[in-house]
Amino acid sequence: MYNPRQMNHYTAHIIEIRMDEDGLPRAMLSCPPEAIPTPGRYVLAHAPADADLALATPLFAAGYAQHGRGFTAAPPFPATWQPGSVIQLTAPRGHGFEIPADTRRLGLVGLGLHVATLLPLALAAFEHGGEVALFTDAPLPRLPASLEANPLAALADATAWADVLALAGPLSALLALPDELRTRLPGNSQILIETALPCGGLAECGICALPAGRGKWLAACTAGPVVTLNQLEIA
Ligand code: FES
Repeated sequence: MYNPRQMNHYTAHIIEIRMDEDGLPRAMLSCPPEAIPTPGRYVLAHAPADADLALATPLFAAGYAQHGRGFTAAPPFPATWQPGSVIQLTAPRGHGFEIPADTRRLGLVGLGLHVATLLPLALAAFEHGGEVALFTDAPLPRLPASLEANPLAALADATAWADVLALAGPLSALLALPDELRTRLPGNSQILIETALPCGGLAECGICALPAGRGKWLAACTAGPVVTLNQLEIA
């Protein structure tokens, strides 16, 4: 579905792969600034050495190198990638998080296996003098000292505390929240839907379709993968 010869791409190098405290790997890539995704957006990545992998890997940022030299990719990514591997990246794709700069209290909600894709939002909020609280039952990675981590059960109280909620996880995890909690989440909460993005919209495969209500569907790869709860049919 994805053929790097059919599109412009950027060359990246894997500088380091390290295991974080949540037991999952992170890959540090050096690449041109044009190939660095903002939080919630993604690049399609393909290692020419992995000729057997037909599909590209969507990569999300879990952190950024200084001076726009690259980014740290959140898991998952192919286990064959090693320091020194050469990776081809598309330009960033999709719709990412849009957290207003004047947000004073930001709630981060991890519904998936890790919270790596939410952490760049915390660092940006701290730079603006905001407060940030994390709610998740996932294993915790190394966190900034000022980031307070709470179990998901504490999220009910946060719905009134936070100016903005940013979530990440599969749609199934959102639907699995107790009705009483899910219906208290503000409709303008933003969620990074973790789903397969095999073509990134290039082949209109439809695998990433999200229910938008009234029989309509959203393509997570182009209209998302960050959408507001208002855009989804989650009743
Ligand atoms: S990933 Fe193929 S249409 Fe979205």
